[in-house]
Amino acid sequence: MIAGGAWSNDVVIIESQSSTTMHLKNKVALITGASRGIGRAMARRFADEGADLIICARHREALLEVARDIESRGGRVIARAADVGDRQDVHRLVAMALETFHRIDVLVNNASILGPRVELVAYPYEEWERVLRINLTGTFLITQAVAPHMMERKCGSIINVSSGVGVEGRPRWGAYSVSKFGVEALTQIWSQELRPYHVRVNVVNPGRVRTEMRRAAYPDEDPNTLPRPEEILGVFVYLASDESRAITGQRFQAQEFKWPKTE
Ligand SMILES: NC(=O)c1ccc[n+]([C@@H]2O[C@H](COP(=O)([O-])OP(=O)(O)OC[C@H]3O[C@@H](n4cnc5c(N)ncnc54)[C@H](OP(=O)(O)O)[C@@H]3O)[C@@H](O)[C@H]2O)c1
Repeated sequence: MIAGGAWSNDVVIIESQSSTTMHLKNKVALITGASRGIGRAMARRFADEGADLIICARHREALLEVARDIESRGGRVIARAADVGDRQDVHRLVAMALETFHRIDVLVNNASILGPRVELVAYPYEEWERVLRINLTGTFLITQAVAPHMMERKCGSIINVSSGVGVEGRPRWGAYSVSKFGVEALTQIWSQELRPYHVRVNVVNPGRVRTEMRRAAYPDEDPNTLPRPEEILGVFVYLASDESRAITGQRFQAQEFKWPKTE
């Protein structure tokens, strides 16, 4: 059920009901890739912490399920099907977020695809191009669309999601690894360029997490040996909150960072 919501084409707006913990009260957060895995868990947690949300993924139905789930937990969310590697989708998404909420305080560049786990010599060109377009160019595009509004307001937190193979190349990680190296570089460049505007940009390595992407990368692994997405979110809440207002250009290991200490 959607409480106090309004539908139009591929968008649902869900009004707030209640909330418990409130580290992100009065924040508006845009999370990409929120239909499953880490992004879905983060969207739920951010809503529980009091944030208004804009969420996207390519597949609409799964995304709307997340929106309904958030509604049932309290929260206000815009869910829009969008490909972060498509300039038009990105501009429509950001425009809709600003029209509805009039600002974006937090951007989490979480969406990504794994691509084939093959050696570079056999890496298909089309897949190479697709992985880089979504993981790297997508992160650039959406940050470039959101940054001017944060610069104007002289505040904002951008959180990029990387990987262990974003700082260490390993065989058969191909374009995914290269794209995450690029995300690390984008973090360093954006953080310095946006520092004068008090917009901070940090990067998080989630580590091994029990999601579809991890299963695709390691099909023989027992998922029960891995933490659930809900267990690694402290660093994301911290970076989205005002507690981290002095932190920029830093790299975090999600599984080594517990926040708040009581969680
Ligand atoms: N799980 C791990 O162990 C692990 C480890 C290190 C880093 N990471 C990173 O953590 C982040 C989340 O990973 P995950 O494991 O949660 O992945 P996942 O389960 O595969 O979820 C990926 C999400 O991104 C969305 N997405 C993919 N391509 C998109 C696009 N072009 N535009 C918009 N949304 C898109 C997917 O929805 P649609 O398919 O509907 O678009 C989905 O919601 C990723 O950046 C990943 O690289 C994960």
